[in-house]
Amino acid sequence: MNEAEGLVDALGRPLRDLRVSVTDRCNFRCTYCMPREHFGRSHQFLPRAELLSFEEIERLCRVFVGLGVKKIRITGGEPLLRRGLPQLVSMLSPLGVDLALTTNGSLLAALAGPLALAGLRRVTVSLDALDDPTFAAMTDGRTRVEEVLAGIAAAEHAGLAPLKVNAVVRKGVNEHSIVPLVRHFTGSGHAVRFIEYMDVGCSNSWDLRDIVPAREILRTIEEHFPLEPLEPAATGEVARRYRRRDGGGEIGVISSVSSPFCNDCVRARLSSDGKLHTCLFSSSGTDLKTPLRLGSSDAELAGIVASVWAAREDRYSELRSSRSRTNGGPTPSTPVQLARPGQASRKIEMSYIGG
Ligand code: GTP
Ligand code: 5AD
Ligand code: SF4
Ligand code: SF4
Repeated sequence: MNEAEGLVDALGRPLRDLRVSVTDRCNFRCTYCMPREHFGRSHQFLPRAELLSFEEIERLCRVFVGLGVKKIRITGGEPLLRRGLPQLVSMLSPLGVDLALTTNGSLLAALAGPLALAGLRRVTVSLDALDDPTFAAMTDGRTRVEEVLAGIAAAEHAGLAPLKVNAVVRKGVNEHSIVPLVRHFTGSGHAVRFIEYMDVGCSNSWDLRDIVPAREILRTIEEHFPLEPLEPAATGEVARRYRRRDGGGEIGVISSVSSPFCNDCVRARLSSDGKLHTCLFSSSGTDLKTPLRLGSSDAELAGIVASVWAAREDRYSELRSSRSRTNGGPTPSTPVQLARPGQASRKIEMSYIGG
């Protein structure tokens, strides 16, 4: 601990955000996240007994807030698949943090009202395209675009606006959706953010050739909507933000591959089975569920989290990018493996740890 800054990691980064996954299940099979060939009928999801209960999640969140966390984001898989989620939101709301949720939007039309009533403040909805064939090519599910748009409308109605709309961009699949997405949300007040396809997990057969770099995304948008950069709203923000010069709204790019942001990374992640991960690309987490269930006190749990955070030196995306530079620039490759000695090298999946 450092008196002035509170808890910081080995690279001087404080602990400010906690992303809490409440399930590893999802009703979509996005090709970049849960490709059907890896997440088919035979895939073993976490058994119910392994999942933290709402009481356990609330207790751990309280411990994290005691260590400096100011923002909690509920994620999945698809978090709205977890039964009774508004109940969890109502339990987390008294913690007084910025409480947000990331969802694929398919169940939001029914749940936006109850979630807002329970104290949810913000919501981010993933939407990769506006036409059904492209949307289906990205998400490989049965949901239609209009259902997600109905979810967004319900979130607006419930007072969860302005919200963020996230689109992962995959070369040759949904690049042509960039401009329609920007156009669609003109004047809505919602920020539309484009995410470079990342090499998360081990199952999405990631290839550098599938990425549309942020600078290309920006160039595509600027052909129709000239942009000017905005100052970051907070340190550690993942998106670079821009304002449309025509006053049509805000757009953002999340360029974790072409321009990593590990330097300011203040995010911890809690999996639905109670493991603490200090990086989206980590291979192993610290089990908090066992000490919790064996009766550890809040102070003991805080001690475990603090010592993990103090030792943290993760900067996967920066290492990936410096490695590809020393190799003569980015080249198409199989997933980059940068596990530390002693770590199992298999990276965790996005659906397990949340976005
Ligand atoms: P707020 O700042 O709370 O509004 O949210 P956010 O922008 O962090 O949340 P969101 O879930 O919308 O994150 C957007 C996307 O950025 C995620 O889905 C990931 O694809 C990516 N992302 C978020 N955090 C990290 C991170 O720590 N590392 C990397 N490499 N990518 C991240
Ligand atoms: N690369 C970039 N973003 C991803 N997401 C899931 N997998 C990837 C990936 N491989 C994003 C989704 C959603 C959030 C939960 O994570 O689009 O916005
Ligand atoms: Fe589900 Fe989100 Fe992963 Fe798509 S990106 S499969 S919606 S968890
Ligand atoms: Fe943070 Fe890891 Fe993402 Fe870097 S790669 S920004 S350390 S989660």
